[in-house]
Amino acid sequence: MLQRRFAWTLLGIAALFLSGGLHPARAQSESGRRLSVEFEIMLGNVRWMLAPTTAPLERKGLHARLASALSYLGITARRYLDEQGIVNTGLLRQIHTLRAEFKAGDSTALEMHLQNLAEAYPIDLRGILPLIVTPKRLRVGRRLYRKDCWSCHAYPGNGREYPAPDLFRTARTEPRREFAARLIGGVYGNFYTSMENPLSDEQIASLFAYFVHDQPPSTR
Ligand code: HEC
Repeated sequence: MLQRRFAWTLLGIAALFLSGGLHPARAQSESGRRLSVEFEIMLGNVRWMLAPTTAPLERKGLHARLASALSYLGITARRYLDEQGIVNTGLLRQIHTLRAEFKAGDSTALEMHLQNLAEAYPIDLRGILPLIVTPKRLRVGRRLYRKDCWSCHAYPGNGREYPAPDLFRTARTEPRREFAARLIGGVYGNFYTSMENPLSDEQIASLFAYFVHDQPPSTR
C-alpha cells in the first residue's frame, strides 16, 4: 500500500517535470515583462498620487501619467496574450475595470486591483534583485550615470509636473521592486520613448547598486 503510494508520488513528480512545473522558469518574454513592469509602475504611481506629501502639480502629472498608461495598457496586454497564444482570459476585462475605477476616481479600488495584478504578473527580476553590490557594478553604474543620465537628473526640478526624479533618493526610498520596474520601463520618461528598454539587466543592476551605495558626482 505504502509502496504504491510512493509510486504514485513519483509519477506525480515526473508529470510535474514533464509539464514544466519543476523546470527552472524560462526568461520572461519582452511583452510579458512590459506588462508586468506597467502594473508595478502604475501601482507605484497610484500610491504616490495618494500620498499626502505629494505636491499638487506632481499629483496632476501622476494623474495624467495614469490616464495615458491606462489607455495603452490594453494594447500591451493584447500583445502579450497574442504572443502566449492565450485566447480566453479575464485580463482584458480586468483592465476595463481598472479604467472604470480610474474614471470614477476610486483610487483605493484601483490600488487594490493593481496590487493584485502586479502579484499575478510578477516581473522577472532575477538579474537585478536581490541587489548584489560589487566594485565592478559601482564602477559601471557611475560611468553610465555620468554619460547618459546626469544631464537631466542632476537637477531634479521639483515642483514640475513631470520632474526628473533624484535617482539617489528614489532608489533608497521606493520599494526595490518598484524602483527596478522604473529603471526597466521609465528610463527616458515615458512609454512612447521607452518601448525598448535601452539598458540590459546587468546595467540596471549596476545603476541600482550605484544609486544605493554611492554619491552623485560633485556638481562643483
Ligand atoms: C533627456 C533627459 C533625461 C535623460 C538623459 C534621462 N532621464 Fe530619466 N527622466 C527624465 C524625466 C523628465 C523624467 C520624469 C518623466 C516622467 O515623470 O514622465 C525621468 C524619469 C526617470 C525615472 C522614473 C521613471 C518613472 O516611471 O517614474 C527613472 C528611473 C529614470 N528617469 C532613470 C534614468 C536613467 C537611469 C537614465 C540614464 C540611463 C535617465 N533616466 C536619463 C529625464 C531624463
